[in-house]
Amino acid sequence: MTEPTQDVVSAEIADRHRREQGSGAVHPRRDFAPYRSTALRHPTHELVRADPEEIELVSPAFGHSDVAAHESDLTVQHAGAPSGERIVVTGHVLDGEGRPVRNQLIEVWQANASGRYAHKRDQHPAPLDPNFTGVGRIITGDDGSYRLTTIKPGAYPWRNHRNAWRPAHIHFSFFGTAFTQRLITQMYFPGDPLFGLDPIFQSITDPAARARLVAEYDHGVSEPEWALGYRWDVVLTGPRATWTEPEDADDA
Ligand SMILES: [Fe+2]
Repeated sequence: MTEPTQDVVSAEIADRHRREQGSGAVHPRRDFAPYRSTALRHPTHELVRADPEEIELVSPAFGHSDVAAHESDLTVQHAGAPSGERIVVTGHVLDGEGRPVRNQLIEVWQANASGRYAHKRDQHPAPLDPNFTGVGRIITGDDGSYRLTTIKPGAYPWRNHRNAWRPAHIHFSFFGTAFTQRLITQMYFPGDPLFGLDPIFQSITDPAARARLVAEYDHGVSEPEWALGYRWDVVLTGPRATWTEPEDADDA
């Protein structure tokens, strides 16, 4: 079978968006044909109901003492400084009423500046960076704020279709107060030319919901002679909630 081209996939995205225009659907389409692997893994059966308390007996737990301050700085985890553009990403985690979500465990993972993950499944020919692992953790403050120092990740190819490239993004996980509440999403950078071409970003058919995944450049967050600053607030629930991935999604 020949690989579909970007034009074919872009036409599929446009068609689906046209059909869903004005639907107000802010959640991702789990069965979104342009994002090829959703065809096989979207749920086709009723969810299996599980006893949340039973899950908690075997699920991971964390406490303040488990997360060190340096884990929120992905540029200091090795002997040398990683290659790339140093950035600070900061914002607040809020609930649907605008209240801060404090003491929240946030986990992040990302590709390096060349668009390569330090993971055996990522074998595309971009260099690994011996000074960058691309994994961090933060606990939100009393005001729901978080602050992350890292390197701007590069775009990377994936094999959804011919010449498929993911816009630069950082994966975020919000642990909640119990394992069954964990939410996962991706943060993007403003003005990325790949937005319109990416079936994962476009699987959210509501443009305003997509926009909520894009951080803002904030010159007040930038630090002189040191780092560029981005601001990204996350709303966990309610009609203006930041989109989160379905539980069966993988880490493309
Ligand atoms: Fe990714």
